Amino acid sequence: MKVAVIGTGYVGLVSGVCLAEKGHEVACVDVDQNKVAKINDGVSPIYETGLDALLKKHVGSSLHATIDLQSSINDSELSLIAVGTPFDGELIDLTYIKTVARQVGEALRDKNEYHVVTVKSTVVPGTTDGVVLPILEKASGKKAGIDFGVGMNPEFLREGEAVDDFMHPDRIVLGGIDDKSRAVLEELYASFGDVDVLRTNNSTAEMIKYTSNSLLATMISFSNEIGNLCSSIGGIDALEVVKGVHLDKRISPILEDGTRIVPKFTSYIEAGCGFGGSCFPKDVKALVAHGSRVGEELRLMDAVIDVNQKQPEKMIRLLKRHFSSVENLRIAILGLAFKPGTDDMRESPAIPIVKWLLEHGAALRAFDPVAQREAEDIFGHSGIEYCSSVASAIDRVDVIMVITRWSDFEVIPELLLGMDEQPLVIDGRRIIDKSSVVRYEGIGL
Ligand code: UGA
Repeated sequence: MKVAVIGTGYVGLVSGVCLAEKGHEVACVDVDQNKVAKINDGVSPIYETGLDALLKKHVGSSLHATIDLQSSINDSELSLIAVGTPFDGELIDLTYIKTVARQVGEALRDKNEYHVVTVKSTVVPGTTDGVVLPILEKASGKKAGIDFGVGMNPEFLREGEAVDDFMHPDRIVLGGIDDKSRAVLEELYASFGDVDVLRTNNSTAEMIKYTSNSLLATMISFSNEIGNLCSSIGGIDALEVVKGVHLDKRISPILEDGTRIVPKFTSYIEAGCGFGGSCFPKDVKALVAHGSRVGEELRLMDAVIDVNQKQPEKMIRLLKRHFSSVENLRIAILGLAFKPGTDDMRESPAIPIVKWLLEHGAALRAFDPVAQREAEDIFGHSGIEYCSSVASAIDRVDVIMVITRWSDFEVIPELLLGMDEQPLVIDGRRIIDKSSVVRYEGIGL
């Protein structure tokens, strides 16, 4: 099938390349000439595991990049809109979506064959039918449902694992204004084999995306609140509490042979120093804002954000249990990215923690396996030295703060064995066994 993917960011490019791998003929459209040239040279402008190899395999044959939106629409049966929807503090910013919708509409004006326009970007419920569809109709002078179709097909791609998530989806959600629109989308995903496909209307498809992310974010804030309570009561380790909760057979079902299924989502029910990234914080905030727009106050979601924003402070609070001042205190910061497997620092809990420590005169030694460059842009070099390994970061420090769940940090107890002066370890992810180091503090302990 011939497909135009508009926007070559993380969602658009991964979708385009993976659809080419699935046998479709894909045009990746972007306004950025440089990006287009790079993609056509077989070089991915973003880093995602496995993306470069797949791009190289298909570029020049089943995939090409272009700035020519009109021809791409003309030559395809389906377009996927995958441009950014940033949150401007009050509402999601639909500027890019609206611009693209208008351009696609203008292209449809001159097209005689049926075409389905599909929104893939994360947009608040009602956007596809209430904003995109009217723009398409106005710009094309045609009627949705008769001359062209409109669909909504949310993505469920984790950063760092996006290619694998696309190629082996856990679900495919196909929203559409009618069966005809959904049938075209269905054809797009026909080769994905035995996967649950949910067919619905556009607003429900949009809501599924927000609800999925909001549920995971809620579980994290819930666990963090419980962890903070455990910490304040004393004599309770939230890690043990959560283990006890995970054993509920409705969470980890017991099979007939007595073994248990431990669902992956239980890892979201663990206390830590907060969630980040480009999705959870933005999506939950956008849903709260949308709720108040339609007269529905989302108090729980509001609290999810509030708990999360305060969570990095808990690391500072643990530090203050041992030091009255951090001035000239030598602190190793382990982990800068918002999660392991990525160099993305957007909304990373490392940002408020490092900024606070720098403002209060601490001497920092930071290490992240991949996010150092990003961190240098954010923090500069004053008061912070970037190190090339865990061992060099923790050399002669007073405190070690673990902020990202990189498995590289599990060596800390081993590295500390030979040291005369034992630093205090403050574990923001509870990845170190508390009995394996001399001085330990952890979230939820
Ligand atoms: C998230 C969702 O997981 C994807 O399904 C969704 O498609 C994506 O947002 C999106 O909306 O585009 P992502 O932000 O890449 O994906 O990251 P996750 O791996 O879910 O991590 C989000 C936050 O949860 C991170 O801060 C991470 O530290 C935390 N997390 C993650 C946990 O606390 N526990 C885990 O087991 C995994």
